Amino acid sequence: MRVLVSGGAGYIGPHTVLALLAAGHEAVIVDDLSNSKASVLNRLESLSGQHIPMHSIDLTDRDKTDQIFAETAFDAVIHFAGFKAVGESVEKPLEYYENNLDSTLSIVRAMRRHDVTKLVFSSSATVYGPRAPLPYSEEWWPLEATNPYGWTKVMNEQVLRDVAPTIPGLKVALLRYFNPIGSHPSGQIGEDPNGIPNNLLPFIAQVAVGRREKLMIFGDDYDTPDGTCLRDYIHVEDLALGHLAALEHLDSMKEPVRAFNLGTGQGVSVFEVLRAFEKAVGRALPYEVAPRRAGDLAESYADPTRAEQELGWKATKSIDDMCADAWRWQRENPMGYPAG
Ligand code: NAD
Ligand code: WQD
Repeated sequence: MRVLVSGGAGYIGPHTVLALLAAGHEAVIVDDLSNSKASVLNRLESLSGQHIPMHSIDLTDRDKTDQIFAETAFDAVIHFAGFKAVGESVEKPLEYYENNLDSTLSIVRAMRRHDVTKLVFSSSATVYGPRAPLPYSEEWWPLEATNPYGWTKVMNEQVLRDVAPTIPGLKVALLRYFNPIGSHPSGQIGEDPNGIPNNLLPFIAQVAVGRREKLMIFGDDYDTPDGTCLRDYIHVEDLALGHLAALEHLDSMKEPVRAFNLGTGQGVSVFEVLRAFEKAVGRALPYEVAPRRAGDLAESYADPTRAEQELGWKATKSIDDMCADAWRWQRENPMGYPAG
C-alpha cells in the first residue's frame, strides 16, 4: 500500500514509517514541522535505505491537502498530525480545536474526493475520562475528556463515526494509545519535545543526560501499591506495529469504524519507571516528591484483548526495553534532532 502518513515527522510517525517500509509498503510524509524537525527525514532515509517523499504543508489547509491527494494516488492514510500537549490545550483551546479538528476534516474530505478508503486515526486513552472502570475497554460509553486536547480526540472519533458510514467503502480504525515511550533501537529516531517536557519519560531522560536537575514526582499519596500513579507504558515500536496490524486488518472489518486499545494491559508506577531508567543508565537519578499534578488519574491501563483477537497484535516489549531504548536515543542525541 502507498500510505500518507500525516504528522510523520513527529515522535510516533517516524517509527511507524520504518515499520511500514519494512513490511513492503510505501510511505509519504505530510507534516508542517510545527512540532518536529526536517532532519528526521535524513535519519529515516539512511535507516531504511529508501527515498521517502515529504510535503511540508499545514493539513488544516483544505486546498493544499487536496492537492497532495490529487498528485499522488494513496491507498491509505495514517493520521498522526495534531497538537498534543494537555496543559497547552487549556491555555490555547481554540488553536487545539482548530488544528486537531480541521486537519481531520480536510483529510477526510480529500479521501472522499480521491476514493481513499482506509484510515487509521491516532486516538488516546484519554477518551475514557475519569469515570470508566479499569481496565479500560473499548465497549465503554460515553467517552469524555477533562481538557481541550482530550476533547479533540473524543470529537474526532465522533466525526469519524458519523462520517464513515456515509462514504462508500470507508474503513476507519480508531487506535487508542496508552502511554507511548521508548525509541527506535538504533538510537537514531526518538522523542524530541520542545522546551520543558510535560511527560514522564522525556523528563527522566533529560535528567539522566544532565539537561534537568531532578525529576519531580507528582504525588506519592495515591491509593496505589507505592503511592505513585500507574500507567500503561507501551514501547513506540510495539505501537508502530499496531498501526501496521490495523492497516492490514481494515479490509476485513465488518463495520465502518472500530476502536482498538493499544496498550500492554499492565499498570506501572512512576517509581518503577524511574528504577527501570536508572537500571538502563547504571546510576541513581535525583528526584523529589512534589504535590499531585491537577487532572492526573491514579490509574490508567488497557484491556488489550480486542487488538489481540481481531488485529493479531500484542505488545511484547518490557519497561526495561523501553527505558534502555529511550536512554540510547537521549545519550546519543542529548539535544534531540539536529536543527533544520
Ligand atoms: P508529535 O507532536 O511528535 O507529532 C505530531 C506531528 O504532527 C508533528 O510533527 C507536527 O509537526 C505535525 N502537525 C501538527 N499539526 C499539523 C498540521 N496542521 N499539519 C501538518 N502537520 C501537523 O506527536 P506524537 O507523540 O507523534 O503523536 C502523534 C499522534 O498521536 C497525535 O495525534 C497525538 O495526539 C496522538 N497521541 C500521542 C500520545 C503520546 O503520548 N505521544 C498518546 C496518545 C495519542
Ligand atoms: C505519567 C505519570 C504523572 C511528569 C499524557 C496525556 C495523555 C497521553 C499521554 C496523549 C503521571 C507522572 C509526569 C513528571 C511525574 N497523551 N509524572 N513527573 O499524564 O499519563 O498522559 O500523555 O494522548 O492524554 O495526558 O502521561 O507522562 O505526563 O505522566 O511524576 O515530570 O508520570 O503525574 O502519574 P499521562 P505523563
